[in-house]
Amino acid sequence: MAPTKPATRPDNARFSSGPCAKPPTFTLDALSDAALGRSHRAAVGKAKLKDAIERTRAILGVPADYRIGIVPASDTGAVEMAMWSMLGARKATMVAWESFGAGWVTDVVKQLKIDAEVKTADYGEIVDFAQIDFDTDVVFTWNGTTSGVRLPSAEAIPADRAGLTICDATSAAFAQDLDWSKLDVTTFSWQKVMGGEAAHGMIVLSPRAVERLESYTPAWPLPKIFRMTKGGKLIEGIFVGETINTPSMLAVEDYHFALGWAEGIGGLSALMARADANAQAIWDFCDSRDWIANLASDPATRSNTSVCLKFTDPRIADGAAFAKAVAKRLEAEGIALDIGAYRDAPAGLRIWCGATVETSDIAAMLPWLDWAFHAEIEAQTEAA
Ligand SMILES: Cc1ncc(COP(=O)(O)O)c(C=O)c1O
Repeated sequence: MAPTKPATRPDNARFSSGPCAKPPTFTLDALSDAALGRSHRAAVGKAKLKDAIERTRAILGVPADYRIGIVPASDTGAVEMAMWSMLGARKATMVAWESFGAGWVTDVVKQLKIDAEVKTADYGEIVDFAQIDFDTDVVFTWNGTTSGVRLPSAEAIPADRAGLTICDATSAAFAQDLDWSKLDVTTFSWQKVMGGEAAHGMIVLSPRAVERLESYTPAWPLPKIFRMTKGGKLIEGIFVGETINTPSMLAVEDYHFALGWAEGIGGLSALMARADANAQAIWDFCDSRDWIANLASDPATRSNTSVCLKFTDPRIADGAAFAKAVAKRLEAEGIALDIGAYRDAPAGLRIWCGATVETSDIAAMLPWLDWAFHAEIEAQTEAA
């Protein structure tokens, strides 16, 4: 007998891991004050860009002596400009436990071709940071978006390291506690926890990262959109809103809206609490069922943003087809959009739990996951 469909539906079915759900109070009207058709170098545009930087600093608690810049090409642009500008001065350690981290390994090993030790872990696991030599430059992803495994803390990173830490924090920033004293370069995009747009990245530089930029010139050519120095000195303008090239003022306005929403609900602690509550609802659901589990093997490393799940029922014949079918059922019902596991990740589901997602929507979606699972098991049995 086909299982009964739950009576309640989520108000918002958007659980994509990027672009992520807009803040709950968002409407297109909120962008009506955008400086459209105006130069980003005019006072109005520059002020909006500078304000976006300073409000980001305030919410994230970035130290006053760290630079924050708005840069081209979303998080990827920010990570790559850091690696291309700073790596090569000393040996590097590339750390990866899912596909985005693996992408940075490819950049460094195959494109930049620099001397690097590569440390990897399988999906669901994490690399042991106690085994890393932080006198090398270390590149890592704080929250592995495609495996749902995050670094629990920066404790293993020594304060007196000689190398730089370059951290892709795009699915961690605004939802997880980032210890700035341990991070020399941190990058993220507006499109994740804040529910912004993906056009631009943010790069946060420690004083030691700036020192590297001013004292080291890479052996390879740097395109204009990666260049943060001129004549051996930091281009300070980038860090007060004088962007390298033209930004989208619509995306900037949208980020302002997200910042205002975040400030209004209570800032970083409130953002983190929302992600925690969302993820906890899913963890509790999994704990009380024997057919679904977190992909992260160690609960301490479970992500509170990109929650990745695997089906564990022995009756499932083809794991990938099953997970796809469940996601398709939920999408067809308008219950959960874009929750299939990332294309390079193990079969399963990935449900975004960042701050813009309402816990009530997670709670309304989960009974439907029960429904979709049982309906699919039944369909599989009938087909056999
Ligand atoms: C960990 C991580 N790094 C990098 C990216 C790429 O980000 P963007 O497309 O904003 O450049 C993503 C996107 O999902 C990500 O999750």
